Amino acid sequence: MTQFLVTGGTGVLGRQILRRLSGDVRVLTRGETEIEGATVVRGDLETGEGLRAALDGVDVIVHAASAGFDRRRPDRDIEATRQLLAAISGEPHIVYISIVGVDAIPVAYFRTKLAVERMIEDSGRPWTILRTTQFHDLVLTMLAALARPPVAVVPRGTMVQSVDTGEVADRLVELALGESAGRVPDMGGPRVERVEDLMRAYLGAVRRRRPVLRVPMPGKAAAAYRAGRHMAPEGATGVRTFTEDLLARVGPGGTLDVPYDLGRS
Ligand SMILES: NC(=O)c1ccc[n+]([C@@H]2O[C@H](COP(=O)([O-])OP(=O)(O)OC[C@H]3O[C@@H](n4cnc5c(N)ncnc54)[C@H](OP(=O)(O)O)[C@@H]3O)[C@@H](O)[C@H]2O)c1
Repeated sequence: MTQFLVTGGTGVLGRQILRRLSGDVRVLTRGETEIEGATVVRGDLETGEGLRAALDGVDVIVHAASAGFDRRRPDRDIEATRQLLAAISGEPHIVYISIVGVDAIPVAYFRTKLAVERMIEDSGRPWTILRTTQFHDLVLTMLAALARPPVAVVPRGTMVQSVDTGEVADRLVELALGESAGRVPDMGGPRVERVEDLMRAYLGAVRRRRPVLRVPMPGKAAAAYRAGRHMAPEGATGVRTFTEDLLARVGPGGTLDVPYDLGRS
């Protein structure tokens, strides 16, 4: 039977992957979590702790771990991936999740993602890389943060094509069950939407009144976002829209838990 290792299996995407991946599944985590249907291996990609045990006999690695929310050290995934690759023995298929626009938008985390892509491509192991657009979970978390002050400020002229995280997990599992495929076509959500419209949908869903202020964002990264370099209109294979996802999450009285804790590192 195929032995899988999922890094990042406790994360927003990873949890969705685990729901869909059956068989011999190992999950690497720094935490103490128990995960139904998977064997948890305690370890840390950055220190290398636990990696040899986690990788022993593994046929397929789904590499979805990331420390991307650490703004002070946006390059942590490079060392983490270096440790992962160094601990591999054998020829497992490495499936990596990346982001549309990592080669086009000048932000530090995207440079890290691009560097990690290159490390995997050059690893000498069979590999598959899927780039997707932003997950609905992330867009929702950002809108919630922007809507906290009395005025909800959104970037003027910026669109998003966010995608359902479960559908990304579907695709990754499909890729993990197949042969290595190299860079596969980018995947995006079903709609290209204005951030301000999604903000209004969010405010309506959580029953909050706020003026929405559209602010021009300076800089090259903002210009690249305005130019849509983070989107994949030709890869709009996602089905579930942001608003469908949003409405499914809202509880009685407009309560809503955001998926990400943006303050953590
Ligand atoms: N969010 C988006 O919109 C988006 C879009 C496209 C692609 N992606 C990519 O999708 C991947 C998953 O993102 P996500 O949003 O699901 O992440 P997330 O919820 O922030 O979860 C991060 C995961 O990484 C693990 N991790 C971090 N550092 C680790 C370390 N040193 N050793 C072992 N595990 C470590 C964490 O595990 P423990 O804490 O349990 O150790 C956790 O499971 C990332 O590569 C991200 O770049 C995200």
